[in-house]
Amino acid sequence: MAGSLRKPTLDSCPYSSSDTDDEGVRGTCEDASICKRFAVSIGYWNDPYIQHLVRLSKERKAPEINRGYFARVHGISQLIKAFLQKTECHCQIINLGAGMDTTFWILKDQDLLPSKYFEVDFPVIVTRKLHSIKFKPLLSKPILELHSEDTLQIDGYTLDSKRYAVIGADLRDLSELEEKLKKCNMDTQLPTLLITECVLVYMTPEQSANLIKWAASVFGTAMFINYEQVNMDDRFGQIMIENLRRRQCDLAGVETCKSLDSQVAVCVQYRTPGNPRRKVKERLLANGWETAAAVNMMELYSRLPQTEVSRIESLEFLDELELLEQLMRHYCLCWATKGGSELGLTEITF
Ligand SMILES: C[S@@+](CC[C@H](N)C(=O)[O-])C[C@H]1O[C@@H](n2cnc3c(N)ncnc32)[C@H](O)[C@@H]1O
Repeated sequence: MAGSLRKPTLDSCPYSSSDTDDEGVRGTCEDASICKRFAVSIGYWNDPYIQHLVRLSKERKAPEINRGYFARVHGISQLIKAFLQKTECHCQIINLGAGMDTTFWILKDQDLLPSKYFEVDFPVIVTRKLHSIKFKPLLSKPILELHSEDTLQIDGYTLDSKRYAVIGADLRDLSELEEKLKKCNMDTQLPTLLITECVLVYMTPEQSANLIKWAASVFGTAMFINYEQVNMDDRFGQIMIENLRRRQCDLAGVETCKSLDSQVAVCVQYRTPGNPRRKVKERLLANGWETAAAVNMMELYSRLPQTEVSRIESLEFLDELELLEQLMRHYCLCWATKGGSELGLTEITF
Protein backbone atom coordinates (compact mmCIF):
# COMPACT_ATOMS: atom_id res chain seq x y z
CA MET A 1 0.00 0.00 0.00
CA ALA A 2 2.92 2.28 0.67
CA GLY A 3 3.33 2.77 -3.08
CA SER A 4 -0.16 4.25 -3.45
CA LEU A 5 0.17 6.60 -0.51
CA ARG A 6 -0.26 10.25 -1.03
CA LYS A 7 2.38 12.15 0.88
CA PRO A 8 1.27 12.29 4.53
CA THR A 9 1.01 16.00 5.17
CA LEU A 10 -1.13 16.56 8.26
CA ASP A 11 0.75 19.10 10.31
CA SER A 12 3.93 18.75 8.41
CA CYS A 13 6.48 21.55 8.43
CA PRO A 14 6.27 23.88 5.48
CA TYR A 15 9.57 25.63 6.10
CA SER A 16 13.04 24.54 5.44
CA SER A 17 15.15 26.44 7.90
CA SER A 18 18.66 26.19 9.06
CA ASP A 19 17.77 28.42 12.01
CA THR A 20 16.85 26.22 14.97
CA ASP A 21 14.67 23.17 15.43
CA ASP A 22 11.98 25.46 16.78
CA GLU A 23 11.62 27.23 13.45
CA GLY A 24 10.35 24.01 11.91
CA VAL A 25 8.04 23.40 14.86
CA ARG A 26 6.61 26.90 14.66
CA GLY A 27 6.00 26.29 10.97
CA THR A 28 3.53 23.55 11.83
CA CYS A 29 1.15 26.24 13.06
CA GLU A 30 0.89 27.59 9.53
CA ASP A 31 0.36 24.16 8.08
CA ALA A 32 -2.40 23.13 10.51
CA SER A 33 -4.25 26.41 10.22
CA ILE A 34 -4.05 26.50 6.43
CA CYS A 35 -5.51 22.99 6.28
CA LYS A 36 -8.33 23.99 8.64
CA ARG A 37 -9.00 27.17 6.65
CA PHE A 38 -9.21 25.16 3.43
CA ALA A 39 -11.60 22.58 4.90
CA VAL A 40 -13.81 25.37 6.25
CA SER A 41 -13.81 27.09 2.84
CA ILE A 42 -15.39 24.08 1.21
CA GLY A 43 -17.96 23.52 3.95
CA TYR A 44 -16.59 20.78 6.22
CA TRP A 45 -17.53 22.79 9.28
CA ASN A 46 -18.52 26.33 10.09
CA ASP A 47 -15.91 28.76 11.39
CA PRO A 48 -16.46 32.41 10.49
CA TYR A 49 -13.29 33.46 12.33
CA ILE A 50 -10.49 31.44 10.79
CA GLN A 51 -10.52 33.51 7.59
CA HIS A 52 -9.41 36.51 9.67
CA LEU A 53 -6.38 34.67 11.01
CA VAL A 54 -5.23 32.50 8.15
CA ARG A 55 -4.84 32.98 4.40
CA LEU A 56 -6.60 30.64 1.99
CA SER A 57 -4.25 28.18 0.33
CA LYS A 58 -4.20 28.21 -3.46
CA GLU A 59 -3.38 24.56 -3.37
CA ARG A 60 -6.29 22.14 -2.85
CA LYS A 61 -5.91 19.79 0.07
CA ALA A 62 -6.66 16.12 -0.56
CA PRO A 63 -10.13 14.90 0.53
CA GLU A 64 -8.68 12.48 3.09
CA ILE A 65 -6.79 15.37 4.70
CA ASN A 66 -9.98 17.43 4.90
CA ARG A 67 -11.91 14.55 6.41
CA GLY A 68 -9.07 14.00 8.88
CA TYR A 69 -9.26 17.60 10.03
CA PHE A 70 -13.05 17.37 10.25
CA ALA A 71 -12.81 14.37 12.59
CA ARG A 72 -10.08 16.06 14.64
CA VAL A 73 -12.01 19.31 15.09
CA HIS A 74 -15.28 17.49 15.74
CA GLY A 75 -13.71 15.07 18.25
CA ILE A 76 -11.94 17.73 20.27
CA SER A 77 -14.96 20.02 20.23
CA GLN A 78 -17.18 17.21 21.53
CA LEU A 79 -14.85 16.60 24.49
CA ILE A 80 -14.58 20.33 25.23
CA LYS A 81 -18.36 20.64 25.28
CA ALA A 82 -18.71 17.63 27.58
CA PHE A 83 -16.28 19.26 30.03
CA LEU A 84 -18.14 22.59 29.85
CA GLN A 85 -21.43 20.83 30.44
CA LYS A 86 -20.15 18.90 33.47
CA THR A 87 -18.66 22.04 35.02
CA GLU A 88 -21.55 24.28 33.89
CA CYS A 89 -18.87 26.52 32.38
CA HIS A 90 -17.54 27.31 35.85
CA CYS A 91 -14.06 26.37 34.76
CA GLN A 92 -11.09 27.46 32.72
CA ILE A 93 -9.60 26.15 29.49
CA ILE A 94 -5.89 26.32 28.70
CA ASN A 95 -5.05 25.56 25.08
CA LEU A 96 -1.31 24.79 24.92
CA GLY A 97 0.29 25.32 21.50
CA ALA A 98 -2.97 26.87 20.30
CA GLY A 99 -1.62 28.41 17.10
CA MET A 100 -4.45 30.14 15.22
CA ASP A 101 -7.18 28.22 17.06
CA THR A 102 -10.61 29.91 17.02
CA THR A 103 -12.39 27.93 19.75
CA PHE A 104 -12.71 31.00 22.03
CA TRP A 105 -14.88 32.87 19.50
CA ILE A 106 -16.93 29.82 18.59
CA LEU A 107 -17.71 29.04 22.25
CA LYS A 108 -18.71 32.65 22.81
CA ASP A 109 -21.18 32.47 19.92
CA GLN A 110 -22.63 29.33 21.47
CA ASP A 111 -22.87 30.94 24.90
CA LEU A 112 -20.53 28.29 26.24
CA LEU A 113 -17.52 30.30 27.39
CA PRO A 114 -15.62 29.11 30.45
CA SER A 115 -14.77 31.62 33.20
CA LYS A 116 -11.53 32.22 31.35
CA TYR A 117 -10.00 30.86 28.16
CA PHE A 118 -6.18 30.88 27.89
CA GLU A 119 -4.00 30.17 24.89
CA VAL A 120 -0.23 29.66 24.89
CA ASP A 121 2.19 29.44 21.97
CA PHE A 122 5.67 30.61 21.04
CA PRO A 123 5.94 34.43 21.29
CA VAL A 124 6.44 34.79 17.55
CA ILE A 125 3.17 32.94 16.82
CA VAL A 126 1.34 34.94 19.48
CA THR A 127 2.58 38.22 17.98
CA ARG A 128 1.06 37.21 14.65
CA LYS A 129 -2.25 36.28 16.22
CA LEU A 130 -2.39 39.47 18.29
CA HIS A 131 -1.76 41.53 15.17
CA SER A 132 -4.85 40.02 13.53
CA ILE A 133 -6.93 40.47 16.68
CA LYS A 134 -5.90 44.10 16.94
CA PHE A 135 -6.82 44.96 13.37
CA LYS A 136 -9.85 42.71 12.73
CA PRO A 137 -12.98 43.98 14.54
CA LEU A 138 -14.70 40.61 14.11
CA LEU A 139 -12.00 39.17 16.38
CA SER A 140 -11.49 42.06 18.80
CA LYS A 141 -15.15 43.03 19.34
CA PRO A 142 -16.18 39.79 21.12
CA ILE A 143 -13.18 40.12 23.45
CA LEU A 144 -13.98 43.75 24.24
CA GLU A 145 -17.67 42.98 24.80
CA LEU A 146 -16.70 40.69 27.67
CA HIS A 147 -14.08 43.02 29.05
CA SER A 148 -14.92 45.68 31.62
CA GLU A 149 -12.59 48.27 30.15
CA ASP A 150 -12.54 49.93 26.74
CA THR A 151 -9.02 48.96 25.92
CA LEU A 152 -7.35 45.60 25.81
CA GLN A 153 -4.01 45.00 27.43
CA ILE A 154 -1.87 43.92 24.52
CA ASP A 155 1.87 43.94 24.64
CA GLY A 156 3.99 42.24 22.02
CA TYR A 157 3.59 38.72 23.37
CA THR A 158 0.52 38.82 25.60
CA LEU A 159 -3.11 39.79 25.48
CA ASP A 160 -5.00 39.76 28.73
CA SER A 161 -8.70 40.45 29.11
CA LYS A 162 -11.44 39.38 31.48
CA ARG A 163 -12.34 36.15 29.71
CA TYR A 164 -9.54 35.58 27.19
CA ALA A 165 -5.76 35.58 27.39
CA VAL A 166 -3.13 34.81 24.77
CA ILE A 167 0.35 34.22 26.16
CA GLY A 168 3.69 33.94 24.41
CA ALA A 169 5.73 31.30 26.22
CA ASP A 170 7.77 28.18 25.64
CA LEU A 171 5.92 25.11 26.94
CA ARG A 172 9.26 23.56 27.86
CA ASP A 173 9.92 26.28 30.41
CA LEU A 174 7.37 25.46 33.09
CA SER A 175 8.25 28.13 35.62
CA GLU A 176 7.91 30.81 32.95
CA LEU A 177 4.64 29.24 31.78
CA GLU A 178 3.14 29.14 35.26
CA GLU A 179 4.27 32.66 36.08
CA LYS A 180 2.71 34.07 32.91
CA LEU A 181 -0.55 32.18 33.39
CA LYS A 182 -0.80 33.41 36.99
CA LYS A 183 -0.16 36.95 35.86
CA CYS A 184 -3.24 36.56 33.66
CA ASN A 185 -5.26 35.34 36.66
CA MET A 186 -5.18 31.60 36.11
CA ASP A 187 -7.12 30.14 39.05
CA THR A 188 -5.70 26.79 40.18
CA GLN A 189 -8.86 26.13 42.25
CA LEU A 190 -11.13 26.05 39.19
CA PRO A 191 -11.75 22.85 37.24
CA THR A 192 -9.37 23.18 34.32
CA LEU A 193 -9.27 21.66 30.86
CA LEU A 194 -5.84 21.52 29.19
CA ILE A 195 -5.65 20.88 25.46
CA THR A 196 -2.63 19.88 23.37
CA GLU A 197 -3.70 19.46 19.75
CA CYS A 198 -0.75 18.09 17.80
CA VAL A 199 1.80 19.71 20.09
CA LEU A 200 3.45 17.17 22.43
CA VAL A 201 5.03 15.29 19.54
CA TYR A 202 7.31 18.27 18.91
CA MET A 203 8.84 17.97 22.38
CA THR A 204 11.09 15.24 23.70
CA PRO A 205 9.26 12.57 25.75
CA GLU A 206 10.88 14.02 28.85
CA GLN A 207 9.71 17.56 28.10
CA SER A 208 6.14 16.50 27.40
CA ALA A 209 6.12 14.29 30.52
CA ASN A 210 7.21 17.31 32.55
CA LEU A 211 4.39 19.38 31.07
CA ILE A 212 1.85 16.65 31.84
CA LYS A 213 3.21 16.29 35.37
CA TRP A 214 3.12 20.04 35.91
CA ALA A 215 -0.55 20.15 34.79
CA ALA A 216 -1.51 17.36 37.17
CA SER A 217 0.31 18.95 40.08
CA VAL A 218 -1.06 22.47 39.65
CA PHE A 219 -4.79 21.70 39.34
CA GLY A 220 -6.84 19.65 41.79
CA THR A 221 -9.64 19.03 39.29
CA ALA A 222 -8.61 18.78 35.68
CA MET A 223 -8.97 17.10 32.32
CA PHE A 224 -6.31 16.76 29.63
CA ILE A 225 -7.07 16.32 25.93
CA ASN A 226 -4.25 15.25 23.64
CA TYR A 227 -4.46 14.73 19.89
CA GLU A 228 -1.47 13.43 17.96
CA GLN A 229 0.18 10.75 15.87
CA VAL A 230 0.07 7.05 16.62
CA ASN A 231 1.32 3.84 14.94
CA MET A 232 4.38 5.69 13.71
CA ASP A 233 6.40 2.50 13.67
CA ASP A 234 4.97 1.21 10.39
CA ARG A 235 5.81 2.11 6.79
CA PHE A 236 3.35 5.00 6.61
CA GLY A 237 4.64 6.46 9.86
CA GLN A 238 8.22 6.15 8.66
CA ILE A 239 7.38 8.02 5.44
CA MET A 240 5.81 10.78 7.49
CA ILE A 241 8.87 11.04 9.75
CA GLU A 242 11.26 11.03 6.76
CA ASN A 243 9.27 13.74 4.95
CA LEU A 244 9.38 15.91 8.03
CA ARG A 245 13.09 15.36 8.62
CA ARG A 246 13.85 16.32 5.06
CA ARG A 247 12.15 19.61 5.83
CA GLN A 248 14.16 20.18 9.01
CA CYS A 249 11.32 19.24 11.32
CA ASP A 250 12.07 16.56 13.84
CA LEU A 251 9.26 14.81 15.66
CA ALA A 252 11.20 14.85 18.91
CA GLY A 253 8.43 13.01 20.75
CA VAL A 254 7.78 10.32 18.15
CA GLU A 255 8.98 7.67 20.60
CA THR A 256 5.61 7.92 22.36
CA CYS A 257 3.69 7.70 19.06
CA LYS A 258 4.78 4.23 18.03
CA SER A 259 1.63 2.40 18.99
CA LEU A 260 -1.58 2.98 20.89
CA ASP A 261 0.21 1.47 23.88
CA SER A 262 3.11 3.84 23.73
CA GLN A 263 0.92 6.72 22.62
CA VAL A 264 -1.34 6.25 25.52
CA ALA A 265 1.86 6.56 27.29
CA VAL A 266 -0.06 9.73 27.83
CA CYS A 267 -2.81 7.77 29.50
CA VAL A 268 -3.17 5.62 32.49
CA GLN A 269 -5.83 3.28 31.52
CA TYR A 270 -7.50 3.44 28.19
CA ARG A 271 -10.63 2.09 26.65
CA THR A 272 -10.98 1.04 23.05
CA PRO A 273 -14.05 -0.77 21.71
CA GLY A 274 -12.54 -4.23 21.64
CA ASN A 275 -10.51 -3.56 24.71
CA PRO A 276 -12.78 -2.00 27.30
CA ARG A 277 -10.37 -1.25 30.13
CA ARG A 278 -6.89 -2.09 29.25
CA LYS A 279 -4.37 -0.93 31.78
CA VAL A 280 -1.05 0.21 30.52
CA LYS A 281 1.85 1.58 32.49
CA GLU A 282 1.33 5.02 31.21
CA ARG A 283 2.95 8.37 31.21
CA LEU A 284 -0.13 10.13 32.56
CA LEU A 285 -0.48 7.70 35.45
CA ALA A 286 3.15 8.06 36.25
CA ASN A 287 2.71 11.81 36.12
CA GLY A 288 -0.35 12.33 38.28
CA TRP A 289 -3.39 11.59 36.08
CA GLU A 290 -5.97 9.18 37.43
CA THR A 291 -8.05 7.99 34.48
CA ALA A 292 -7.51 8.14 30.76
CA ALA A 293 -8.96 6.92 27.50
CA ALA A 294 -7.87 6.88 23.86
CA VAL A 295 -9.31 6.20 20.48
CA ASN A 296 -7.68 6.15 17.06
CA MET A 297 -9.22 8.56 14.59
CA MET A 298 -10.71 5.84 12.39
CA GLU A 299 -12.66 4.56 15.38
CA LEU A 300 -13.68 8.08 16.22
CA TYR A 301 -14.74 8.75 12.62
CA SER A 302 -16.94 5.66 12.64
CA ARG A 303 -18.68 6.96 15.78
CA LEU A 304 -19.46 10.44 14.44
CA PRO A 305 -23.13 11.29 13.82
CA GLN A 306 -24.07 9.61 10.55
CA THR A 307 -25.93 12.64 9.17
CA GLU A 308 -22.79 14.77 9.58
CA VAL A 309 -20.58 12.10 8.04
CA SER A 310 -22.93 11.75 5.04
CA ARG A 311 -22.98 15.51 4.63
CA ILE A 312 -19.19 15.90 4.59
CA GLU A 313 -18.65 12.81 2.46
CA SER A 314 -20.86 14.36 -0.21
CA LEU A 315 -18.62 17.45 -0.38
CA GLU A 316 -15.77 15.75 -2.22
CA PHE A 317 -15.33 12.47 -3.96
CA LEU A 318 -12.74 10.19 -2.36
CA ASP A 319 -11.90 7.34 -4.68
CA GLU A 320 -9.50 5.46 -2.44
CA LEU A 321 -11.03 4.93 0.98
CA GLU A 322 -7.85 3.16 2.00
CA LEU A 323 -6.08 6.51 2.00
CA LEU A 324 -8.49 7.83 4.59
CA GLU A 325 -8.19 4.72 6.74
CA GLN A 326 -4.41 4.77 6.60
CA LEU A 327 -4.24 8.40 7.60
CA MET A 328 -6.84 8.11 10.36
CA ARG A 329 -5.15 5.09 11.88
CA HIS A 330 -2.07 7.24 12.37
CA TYR A 331 -3.72 9.79 14.62
CA CYS A 332 -5.51 9.44 17.91
CA LEU A 333 -7.41 11.38 20.54
CA CYS A 334 -6.63 10.76 24.23
CA TRP A 335 -8.21 12.27 27.29
CA ALA A 336 -7.44 11.96 30.99
CA THR A 337 -8.85 13.27 34.24
CA LYS A 338 -7.72 14.07 37.72
CA GLY A 339 -10.28 14.56 40.51
CA GLY A 340 -13.70 15.76 39.44
CA SER A 341 -15.62 12.50 39.93
CA GLU A 342 -18.29 14.50 41.82
CA LEU A 343 -18.72 16.60 38.65
CA GLY A 344 -18.85 13.51 36.46
CA LEU A 345 -15.54 14.24 34.68
CA THR A 346 -14.62 10.58 34.84
CA GLU A 347 -17.78 9.70 32.88
CA ILE A 348 -16.76 11.78 29.88
CA THR A 349 -16.30 9.55 26.89
CA PHE A 350 -16.51 9.72 23.15
C1 LIG B 1 0.76 21.53 14.64
S1 LIG B 1 0.59 23.09 15.36
C2 LIG B 1 -1.03 22.93 16.08
C3 LIG B 1 -1.69 24.23 16.37
C4 LIG B 1 -3.09 24.09 16.98
N1 LIG B 1 -3.03 23.35 18.21
C5 LIG B 1 -3.99 23.40 15.99
O1 LIG B 1 -4.19 22.19 16.11
O2 LIG B 1 -4.48 24.07 15.09
C6 LIG B 1 1.65 22.96 16.80
C7 LIG B 1 1.67 24.23 17.61
O3 LIG B 1 2.36 24.01 18.83
C8 LIG B 1 3.22 25.10 19.07
N2 LIG B 1 4.33 24.64 19.91
C9 LIG B 1 5.07 23.52 19.73
N3 LIG B 1 6.03 23.44 20.68
C10 LIG B 1 5.87 24.52 21.48
C11 LIG B 1 6.56 25.00 22.63
N4 LIG B 1 7.62 24.36 23.13
N5 LIG B 1 6.13 26.14 23.19
C12 LIG B 1 5.07 26.82 22.68
N6 LIG B 1 4.38 26.41 21.59
C13 LIG B 1 4.78 25.27 20.99
C14 LIG B 1 3.67 25.52 17.68
O4 LIG B 1 4.18 26.83 17.66
C15 LIG B 1 2.38 25.38 16.90
O5 LIG B 1 1.58 26.54 16.94
